[in-house]
Amino acid sequence: MVSRTMIIAFLVLLMYLSVTNASNISTDEASLLAFKAQITSDPNGMLSKNWTKGTHICKWIGISCSKKHKRVTSLDLKSFGFRGSIAKEIGNLSFLNFLDIGNNSFHGQIPDEIGNLRRLNYLSLQMNNLTDQIPESLGFLTRLQVLDLSENDLFGNVPFSISNVSSLKIIDLGFNRISGNLPRGLCARLPNLQGLFLSKNQLAGQIPSGLNQCTQLIYLSLSYNQLTGSLPRDMWNLTKLRELYLGWNNITVPSQSKVQ
Ligand SMILES: *[C@@H]1O[C@H](CO)[C@@H](O)[C@H](O)[C@H]1NC(C)=O
Ligand SMILES: *[C@@H]1O[C@H](CO)[C@@H](O)[C@H](O)[C@H]1NC(C)=O
Ligand SMILES: *[C@@H]1O[C@H](CO)[C@@H](O)[C@H](O)[C@H]1NC(C)=O
Ligand SMILES: *[C@@H]1O[C@H](CO)[C@@H](O)[C@H](O)[C@H]1NC(C)=O
Ligand SMILES: *[C@@H]1O[C@H](CO)[C@@H](O)[C@H](O)[C@H]1NC(C)=O
Ligand SMILES: *[C@@H]1O[C@H](CO)[C@@H](O)[C@H](O)[C@H]1NC(C)=O
Ligand SMILES: *[C@@H]1O[C@H](CO)[C@@H](O)[C@H](O)[C@H]1NC(C)=O
Ligand SMILES: *[C@@H]1O[C@H](CO)[C@@H](O)[C@H](O)[C@H]1NC(C)=O
Repeated sequence: MVSRTMIIAFLVLLMYLSVTNASNISTDEASLLAFKAQITSDPNGMLSKNWTKGTHICKWIGISCSKKHKRVTSLDLKSFGFRGSIAKEIGNLSFLNFLDIGNNSFHGQIPDEIGNLRRLNYLSLQMNNLTDQIPESLGFLTRLQVLDLSENDLFGNVPFSISNVSSLKIIDLGFNRISGNLPRGLCARLPNLQGLFLSKNQLAGQIPSGLNQCTQLIYLSLSYNQLTGSLPRDMWNLTKLRELYLGWNNITVPSQSKVQ
């Protein structure tokens, strides 16, 4: 008898939790409307004509939904000429795996809430006017394969939290104002990284040893920074490396090396 009341209490609690935590297509719609509300310029009228209340959000331009659960899985709004800031409600699109709003004029900060998008595997905010620091919360995106924040106005350090995202294949932070050292240990947990692009920033100090732990690295681009010192010898272990850009720094390359 005691156990029956306990079971009932437990079921009531479960129902309560499932109701309060419920996220559904209405959550996605509210998130997209909040995102739209912060776009101040839409020169081709894409959103005003297409993202309308009467139509299902899965039919909106730039949106794809999963077949089964009808939740938003992809937001592809590259090159729409939008101006505005990125609404933090974007972090409520909990089924999103693809997010590309590159080549627009988004300004302001990258919202921390992007770190809530745990299913994301592709994130491109490239070619915008985003500023401030790169949020550490990106370290929570444990399925991310491509991170492209290039050609913005981001400053601060390379967030060390991204070294936790072992799924990463491409990291592109080029053409920003990122400063500080290239973090030691960056590669310790990035066994899949194939491209690391950090050109045209303000990185200083020496290139740390340990980049050889990114064993799959094919492209490494560090040109146009303020790096100094000599190239760590363990980099000769990067046997897959095909393109290495070091120009416009103050790096000395050991003389017995084969690097051009
Ligand atoms: C979505 O969930 C809310 C409660 O969180 C509920 O009020 C609403 O009716 C649900 N909408 C749909 C379409 O299921
Ligand atoms: C919005 O755009 C999509 C994709 O181009 C199109 O299929 C849909 O018919 C458009 N909806 C409206 C209301 O114009
Ligand atoms: C950027 O977007 C504009 C349209 O807004 C387009 O004309 C241009 O080709 C795009 N550039 C790139 C590099 O994709
Ligand atoms: C959506 O996100 C905002 C801000 O990040 C939050 O306050 C709000 O509770 C979220 N709404 C839902 C329905 O999850
Ligand atoms: C946005 O960035 C582009 C390219 O980096 C630049 O030409 C433009 O002036 C910037 N716009 C604003 C409003 O800062
Ligand atoms: C990386 O993950 C570990 C374990 O999940 C955590 O303790 C650590 O704080 C994380 N480091 C960063 C820089 O996010
Ligand atoms: C190459 O890597 C191995 C294992 O990490 C290490 O023992 C060796 O010293 C490295 N070689 C060079 C030239 O750094
Ligand atoms: C480059 O480094 C050398 C020694 O490491 C130093 O003497 C020189 O001043 C540096 N040049 C610049 C332009 O910083």
